[in-house]
Amino acid sequence: MQDFTVNPWEVKGKVDYDKLIAQFGTQPITDELRERIRRDAGDLHVMLRRKVFFSHRDLESVLKDYEEGKGFFLYTGRAPSLGMHIGHLIPFIFTKWLQEKFKVNLYIEITDDEKFMRNPEYSLDDTRKWAYENILDIIAVGFDPNRTFIFQDTEYIRNMYPLAVKIAKKMTFSEVKATFGLDVSSNIGIIFYPALQIVPTMFERKRCLIPAGIDQDPYWRLQRDIAESLGFFKASQIHSKFLPPITGVEGKMSSSSPESAIYLTDDKDIVKRKVMKYAFSGGQPTVELHRRLGGNPEIDVPFQWLYYFFEEDDNRIEEIREDYKSGKILSGELKQILVDKLNDFLEDHRRKRDEAKDLVNTFKYDGKLARSMWEKLHE
Ligand code: TYM
Repeated sequence: MQDFTVNPWEVKGKVDYDKLIAQFGTQPITDELRERIRRDAGDLHVMLRRKVFFSHRDLESVLKDYEEGKGFFLYTGRAPSLGMHIGHLIPFIFTKWLQEKFKVNLYIEITDDEKFMRNPEYSLDDTRKWAYENILDIIAVGFDPNRTFIFQDTEYIRNMYPLAVKIAKKMTFSEVKATFGLDVSSNIGIIFYPALQIVPTMFERKRCLIPAGIDQDPYWRLQRDIAESLGFFKASQIHSKFLPPITGVEGKMSSSSPESAIYLTDDKDIVKRKVMKYAFSGGQPTVELHRRLGGNPEIDVPFQWLYYFFEEDDNRIEEIREDYKSGKILSGELKQILVDKLNDFLEDHRRKRDEAKDLVNTFKYDGKLARSMWEKLHE
């Protein structure tokens, strides 16, 4: 019996990412491939250096198309919820870097429909309201307003519908049922929904690269079965690991247990209280023991978070690792390093989020790419 689960709605247990690569049939990002990205991009993002983005499909083909001047485009998305947490930003922060380095178009799907249909307790008004709020957080990451189109399914559906029905006709209920664990009592909206997550992979007749958590992979497996028969490329992906919840390195940070997540709206005191009180520590029970035996950074959540991206300096992170292992840094001190980093990050984010209010229309309707997308009917 496997002791972890990863699917689009649930991540449980301590994920073995090597096993997941074998299970999902994806490829590891090798040192050689990382060097090729470094050559093409000019440098290497911290999440690539640290193997937060660790797996892919057909990334070589995307780089080849880029190197030959054929280009490619980026696509990612978000099912809106009441509040976004730090983990949700991982694909967006990385996608921003890709867009900056490769100067390509980016499509961001906001699935107010998916969220509504999947959760009996949410109204469509709820998910639309959250869509607006989440879009502010996404814009705050800093995408190129002329090369980015953010669209909400319930608004952009008319332009997507012809392609959606062509995709839907190629997929059977039994495939979707097996892929997503649905059954005959599932509402018919959620059975159709995968077609809508696949449509944006076909927004251009170029290769599509999808940066996202590996939980979204089942959609792309379905896409790859049918894309070529519709005259499009199989979607390429680059997959990230999950930022662990604050309470321990198992599962993923998730909105369903609020004390285990740091929300983008958490103020300085809340961040400090959550980290100090709940962060799972790899340290020893007493200071004396800790000084003697040292801590274990592999299971220490504050260290893991710093490693994922909050401490970008490679020398500094290794220094912290060694000092923690030797007992020179105490658990409380390590937590404080994280609290300071988090609060700096969040303060900056909140300022940009505020400024984003003036940019919503640009990204959704009247920026250069957005305008051209509203004129297009996808077939
Ligand atoms: P959603 O809203 O569940 O998640 C949005 C993105 O965040 C990633 N993610 C995480 N990454 C790292 N650590 C975590 N703890 C963590 N939690 C979530 C997810 O992998 C995802 O990339 N159906 C989609 C919405 C969607 C989409 C897409 C996502 C539509 N089109 C294209 C990616 C690409 C959803 O429910 O995402």
